[in-house]
Amino acid sequence: MTTHKLLLLPGDGIGIETMAEVERLIAFFNKKSSKNKFETESDLVGGSAYDKHGVAVTDTCVAKAKASDAVIFGAVGGPQWDKVPYAVRPEAGLLRLRKDLDLFANLRPAICYPALADASSLKRELVEGLDIMIVRELTGGVYFGEPKEIVTLEDGQKRAVDTQLYTTREIERIAKVAFDLARKRSNKVHSAEKRNVMKTGVLWNEVVTATHKSYAPDVELQHILADNCAMQLVRNPKQFDVIVTDNLFGDVLSDEAAMATGSLGMLPSASLGAADEKTGKRMALYEPVHGSAPDIAGKGLANPIATIASFGMALRYSCAMTAEADLIDKAIAGVLADGLRTGDIMQPGMQKVGTSEMGSAILAKLENLAA
Ligand code: IPM
Ligand code: MG
Repeated sequence: MTTHKLLLLPGDGIGIETMAEVERLIAFFNKKSSKNKFETESDLVGGSAYDKHGVAVTDTCVAKAKASDAVIFGAVGGPQWDKVPYAVRPEAGLLRLRKDLDLFANLRPAICYPALADASSLKRELVEGLDIMIVRELTGGVYFGEPKEIVTLEDGQKRAVDTQLYTTREIERIAKVAFDLARKRSNKVHSAEKRNVMKTGVLWNEVVTATHKSYAPDVELQHILADNCAMQLVRNPKQFDVIVTDNLFGDVLSDEAAMATGSLGMLPSASLGAADEKTGKRMALYEPVHGSAPDIAGKGLANPIATIASFGMALRYSCAMTAEADLIDKAIAGVLADGLRTGDIMQPGMQKVGTSEMGSAILAKLENLAA
């Protein structure tokens, strides 16, 4: 029997509702499996942590995250925290977890479920069968570079600075992740940067090229300017397999790719650290790509699929439970094929359901598939 320690951080807004559905899945697997057992603990993060502790994540919570096999994260933020000091805003909790756990590799798969091809804002033929993996560098770049400040100048004007910064090592390790993933997929990597404008883009391009030569000459590599990549993603998204890019471009391009699949409510992600040299274990955090959606929070309307699929990625990448992860993916595809839809993916003639109904339907499918 293997025990997997999960830290559940629902956060704010719809994170709380979608995590509740994941907890039902955890209970299901604990009942079903004699080989794997989940031990869970929960904590506050984001605005809810700020309300109780005055910070967006506590040291205790970070320590628990480090000691867990995987963190399952909901979402953070909401208008009620718009005025809190910048250093303790809800997003700071997530950013600290990423940085302190050194989760440099953010995997954001954009898969178009066949049943949802018509829910995309792009034409069916462009997105049917779409399967892209965005590999976003997550602990460097303009998110963390110093200086990062707003200063008042002598004439009373203000000047804001963010610093985009990358080192060879940071680029090389994320490029390797992309090449490794491509080998298990269609063997093609696009590396997106702005070498025509940014020094970090020049270095990114050089290091990815060198890493390709020494580490993965068998993989097809294409360099693409990030703005062109954004355009190509809506023009012909199926030309992509793996896209590797920096923190900020990855943030933007992954939202764009998500929408091509039908809804932001569908996309999971995995944020992984380096493998421990002795144990092979990686620190890991799994979260939906969507945010806390304050407009629908607390109403039972949110789509739980991205959070459930994030839990599925935890089974795949942190728990060596590939069969169970496949079951979750099949269950999700199944309920969609049955015509069940939350509001964000609603289409004419389909059956509109809420968060817990969607969760129940996925559980029922799992029961059937596992029987
Ligand atoms: C994401 C989010 C975060 C980011 C926010 C919540 C800080 O947009 O995970 O894509 O910008 O990285
Ligand atoms: Mg984002």
